[in-house]
Amino acid sequence: MKKPWAGRFKWRTSGTVESFTESVSFDRRLWPYDIEGSIAHARMLGHTGIISKSDSKKIVKGLRDIAGELAKGKFKFKSGLEDVHMNIEAALIKKIGPVGGKLHTARSRNDQVALDMRLYLRAETKELLALITGLQEVLLHVAEKNIGIIMPGYTHMQRAQPVLLAHHLLAYVEMLQRDRERLTDGLKRIEVLPLGSAALAGTSLPVDRKYVAEALGFRAVSQNSIDAVSDRDFMIEFVSAASLVMVHLSRLAEELVLWASEEFSFIELPDAYATGSSIMPQKKNPDVPELVRGKAGRVFGNLVALFTVMKGLPLAYNRDLQEDKPPLFDTADTVKACLEVLSEMLPKIKFNAEAMSKAAEGGYSTAADVAEYLAGKGLPFRDAHEVTGKLVRHCEQQGIAFEDLSRADFKRFSTLFGPDIRSRLGVKASVGSRRSEGGTSPAQVKRQIKRLKRLILN
Ligand code: ARG
Repeated sequence: MKKPWAGRFKWRTSGTVESFTESVSFDRRLWPYDIEGSIAHARMLGHTGIISKSDSKKIVKGLRDIAGELAKGKFKFKSGLEDVHMNIEAALIKKIGPVGGKLHTARSRNDQVALDMRLYLRAETKELLALITGLQEVLLHVAEKNIGIIMPGYTHMQRAQPVLLAHHLLAYVEMLQRDRERLTDGLKRIEVLPLGSAALAGTSLPVDRKYVAEALGFRAVSQNSIDAVSDRDFMIEFVSAASLVMVHLSRLAEELVLWASEEFSFIELPDAYATGSSIMPQKKNPDVPELVRGKAGRVFGNLVALFTVMKGLPLAYNRDLQEDKPPLFDTADTVKACLEVLSEMLPKIKFNAEAMSKAAEGGYSTAADVAEYLAGKGLPFRDAHEVTGKLVRHCEQQGIAFEDLSRADFKRFSTLFGPDIRSRLGVKASVGSRRSEGGTSPAQVKRQIKRLKRLILN
């Protein structure tokens, strides 16, 4: 197969090298962006008079026809033509004749691939944003539906204080909101046009870069041609933001795995989202959240792969940069799949309200309420903490709960205890009293649901 760059070569490329260097097996998915970028470029070439308007039109039409074949799966990619860019260009020349060879005027694959990746990432970022929003909506819905459920809040995996399940779930909505902010911010740096940088030094032809940027809906034109063809920061930012998404999803997944265990029994996973064991007939395994947890590792690996490809790479384009694609594509695919499956599964989870509130009642989880009660009566908090600690030890030794203490028992620990202490011992009262902004009281949580709904639905 004759290569578009074969002019200075006497001998053909070795088969081993062809298969070693090709990228079309994985970059073919860039075809919609390659065509979109090429159409904008061809229009600009006609608009500026670098090529004739009629040539420009022929090229655009040819590209459109090729896009049609690609969309129908009728296009035959050839690995001898290296990558998606050369495959499409060769097909164009075959289709419309030598005029197709004018498309690559004032352009190099170096700025072309940088543009394709930016167009691809803009689309992926928008898809990811929509999916994250979808998961936020699901979490909000589940929170609202289960607003009455009290569960133990944990620190060090020890029962700490009773909280609303809804409050716990909204914590994830907050994380996802930050993820959306990060991804949205990244768009500013993705939507910058590298085209017109040509190989690395710019072009002697009178291109109109702004025209192309506007046609593609980009915000700016890159200001240094060397940087433009060697910059992959925007990809690393994307994978880094995606990694944080996976941190959040894997924490949620881990909690689902724990909660589904016999030991917790806080939730029951829907049958359709669990799997069985080939040897133990009784088992219902939480494979979906486990895989989400596991896939986080893949995405972090992709981030390290990209960092490592870029580290120490001299300017400008080097073929190493072709290795940016598999980790980037895998990241986008993986995160989307995780968001999708979690969004589907979450609304079908059954929460065991009784087990959750029973667990919340155990472990002297309202000890902090007792201490705050004493602090409210004027005792310095450190002393209140000490007194309550002694009370816990006493109860533990007796094998009783706070509620089992008589008024006289309380008085023995502090004379500040009045009859109103009773009303502070239950988990419901405890939750209800946490009215500080962002706290777990139903009133606060409902306020947050309202705020988040407003934030998410716009
Ligand atoms: N397939 C290449 C890549 O993914 C496209 C750019 C090739 N440029 C070059 N000078 N060989 O990076």
